[in-house]
Amino acid sequence: MLIDQCIKERRSVRKYTDKEIPSSVLKELVDLSRFSPSWKNTQAVRYHMIKNPEIKKEIADHCVLNFDFNAKTILRCNTLVLVTVVKQVSGYEEDGSYSTSKEDRWEMFDAGIASQTFCLAAHSKGIGSVILGIFDEEKIRQYVPIPTEERVTNLIALGYPLDTGKSAPPRKEVSQLLQIID
Ligand SMILES: Cc1cc2nc3c(=O)[nH]c(=O)nc-3n(C[C@H](O)[C@H](O)[C@H](O)COP(=O)(O)O)c2cc1C
Repeated sequence: MLIDQCIKERRSVRKYTDKEIPSSVLKELVDLSRFSPSWKNTQAVRYHMIKNPEIKKEIADHCVLNFDFNAKTILRCNTLVLVTVVKQVSGYEEDGSYSTSKEDRWEMFDAGIASQTFCLAAHSKGIGSVILGIFDEEKIRQYVPIPTEERVTNLIALGYPLDTGKSAPPRKEVSQLLQIID
């Protein structure tokens, strides 16, 4: 798939078939995502993948801040990815001080880049994905053994799409987004 097509045709997918995503394919997604750029190439992003239906149900029932829309997506998906970053790496100097005035926000930046790479890789393999930002990190820790040195940045629900070819939600025009300074 050409990169332009992959970028334009990727959609957030929230309804999936029952088809299993093989673990070998999940590994391929991480194999591609690990080539994302990162702060000083520190590669602090990690992926915890939940296939277990009981754990997914606990997360859907207790860890979405009462946002039922996300609960339904999590129950429907084949695999739920918890994207994390190892704390105090991205945006930090070796002595533990912040490198810039953006302080620790580079952690979210790295996780965002990696998540987009992951979702594009999924789309190129016919797998639907949606990034989920509405969740309760502390509650998720009650159900999934996330190492204490990692912070959960976002979730990604995955599954083979029930409907394909959805058109994109409206996008702003380039002229609204771009200033070129000659
Ligand atoms: C940081 C971030 C958080 C998001 N959180 C949610 C979420 O909690 N639930 C959800 O259904 N979609 C979520 N989305 C998906 C957006 O709603 C979606 O990307 C947007 O509507 C554009 O649609 P598209 O991805 O199909 O182009 C999130 C996307 C991003 C980038």
